[in-house]
Amino acid sequence: MDRASQRGANAYRTPGSASAELFARARRVLPGGNTRTTVFAPPYPPYAARGRGAVIVDAEGEARLDFVNNYTALIHGHADPDINAAVTRQLADGVAFAMPTEHEVALAELLTERVPGLEQVRFTNSGTEAVMMAIKAARAYTGRPRIAKFDGCYHGSYDFAEVSTRASGAAAEDGMPRAIPYTAGTPQAVLDAVLVLPFNDIEGTERLIERHRAELAAVLIDPMPRSLGLYPAAPAFLRRLREITRAFGILLIFDEVISLRADYGGMQAVLGVTPDLTAMGKIIGGGFPVGALGGSAEIMQVFDPTAGAPQVPHGGTFNANPITLVAGLTAMRKLTREEFARLDGLGRQLRAGVEEALREAGVPGQTTGHGSLFHIHLHPRPLADYRNSLLSEEERDQVDRVYQALLGRGVVITPTLFGCLSTPMGVPEVEAFIDAFSAALQDARR
Ligand SMILES: Cc1ncc(COP(=O)(O)O)c(C=O)c1O
Repeated sequence: MDRASQRGANAYRTPGSASAELFARARRVLPGGNTRTTVFAPPYPPYAARGRGAVIVDAEGEARLDFVNNYTALIHGHADPDINAAVTRQLADGVAFAMPTEHEVALAELLTERVPGLEQVRFTNSGTEAVMMAIKAARAYTGRPRIAKFDGCYHGSYDFAEVSTRASGAAAEDGMPRAIPYTAGTPQAVLDAVLVLPFNDIEGTERLIERHRAELAAVLIDPMPRSLGLYPAAPAFLRRLREITRAFGILLIFDEVISLRADYGGMQAVLGVTPDLTAMGKIIGGGFPVGALGGSAEIMQVFDPTAGAPQVPHGGTFNANPITLVAGLTAMRKLTREEFARLDGLGRQLRAGVEEALREAGVPGQTTGHGSLFHIHLHPRPLADYRNSLLSEEERDQVDRVYQALLGRGVVITPTLFGCLSTPMGVPEVEAFIDAFSAALQDARR
């Protein structure tokens, strides 16, 4: 499958294209033609036909380098031959049982060996469920009802975790964020059960946690939130957060659903701060639906059924199903320390190349990210404060023009210019990205 060099093609946008027709059909049977909010891009997205390695092909037959990788889940790209072989073997042996399998033991062993905060693990079918079960575990363990989370951070669709996913912005009081609904119809009781904190603001965070410490079961934080622009929590901020949560008996939950991809031991290994509970997903399923949460054996005993009904019951028809777990095990075993180091080098090369392209084009901007993850920002504001991630309308328009231009030049990235590498990629793909980006900056001017 060769990469198309159809400059500015984007044939999916042509009236009557295969994608246009699929979208028209979809609109009749799916609201807005959509079943996953994240993958809608106006006027409609290109439909995928197939993928292999670093390349994705749309319904028009246009091939592009894929820097989305299903929102970071596909760290080995598409149709990885090792994962496919392992899954095909498992298909012949049965896809799901109401009995545990050795695979769940093996993947739990691998994760607990790698990630500092994990002694024990439980599997779920999504990152949303992993975050949900971590919050339930924290409430049961501490006997306290509320959680705290950071303004503007995304943690999936559990009611409590999605409060203030959209940053409170103008709704903030005294410069401090407020609990605002993300989904229409969110009960006031849910908003009342969530304390919203300012990211990377030690003083504000400490004041709010101290004031509400007796009610708080947990503080939930993504150590490098994509929704705030992929800049990591400042180490001093995270260390202080660890100290105060420990002092007040509040559990610290890391959402590493995406950031586990950044390093062999996740961002907790990079930043040197160990949480009480960790939510995971994406890469650990080898491309199949997955989630997991883990932590110390002492906290995780809330799920233990061996002495009667557990404090936190946790069912799930497809939890730890063998298809997901053999795919996950194969994917994770291929991710050696050396492979993480190679991806890290490519990530650095890409971010440096993009910054040089921005300088050459005279466009103020910067990059963030770690390891194989990157985010391109078309503004020069310092990225230390959560409020700076809010874009003006003009900035959003420029981002959209660059996104469309990249698509036309054979590169898929997310509409916010967040992206990631996959292991089938090497220096040629990184160089192709930088070239396409340079050209897209020129296109976007026109
Ligand atoms: C940081 C973070 N947490 C949680 C989730 C939810 O995971 P899932 O989509 O598997 O439910 C996501 C999904 O993108 C995420 O990025």
